[in-house]
Amino acid sequence: MSTRRHASEDALGALPCQLLERPESASVLIGGLGMGFTLAAVLASTGPNACVVVAELVPEVVEWNKGLLGHYSGHPLADKRTTLYAGDVSDLLRHAEHRYDVIALDVDNGPEALSSSGNDWLYSAAGISSAQTSLKEGGILAYWSATPDAVFARRLRSCGLKVTEKSVFAHGSKGIKHTIWLARV
Ligand SMILES: C[S@@+](CC[C@H](N)C(=O)[O-])C[C@H]1O[C@@H](n2cnc3c(N)ncnc32)[C@H](O)[C@@H]1O
Repeated sequence: MSTRRHASEDALGALPCQLLERPESASVLIGGLGMGFTLAAVLASTGPNACVVVAELVPEVVEWNKGLLGHYSGHPLADKRTTLYAGDVSDLLRHAEHRYDVIALDVDNGPEALSSSGNDWLYSAAGISSAQTSLKEGGILAYWSATPDAVFARRLRSCGLKVTEKSVFAHGSKGIKHTIWLARV
């Protein structure tokens, strides 16, 4: 991810929302905020009655987005449809108090290339199953990864999900590609 190479982060937000029957009033959970590109793409792909919760673990990331970095993604935290959860997205999935039309996860390099071992659970069968429980009927789980991962794709399918794998350029129409899985019940 960089300020210029964020097409796959944009796609993580846009692709699942484009599959919804009623994107204008979608309820979306994003983990994490990063530079806000996925959040901005969700806001652009939904409508005035959408509600978007973005969970971010690192307080400094939130502060940077509210300040110096915010203009790169168009200040999506300031959008009235956005609610910030300053904490671990796993907390929201474990308690499943709300149901979402889309859950879009980009908290690390990918399912097997974790920089934080605390995120293991999100990509485990238990984490996937909790995310499924947090979806509304017809809802979509979307996962971002720096690289393809056949083991994770199989795990999603073995949880009973119908999975589409997308390979998306990081920028423009050549060079590095990243992987996005769209999974629905
Ligand atoms: C690769 S960045 C996300 C990029 C984002 N898609 C964008 O458009 O800029 C990963 C972010 O997830 C945050 N993060 C890592 N683990 C998390 C967790 N368990 N819950 C919430 N946020 C987390 C990191 O602090 C970082 O800001």
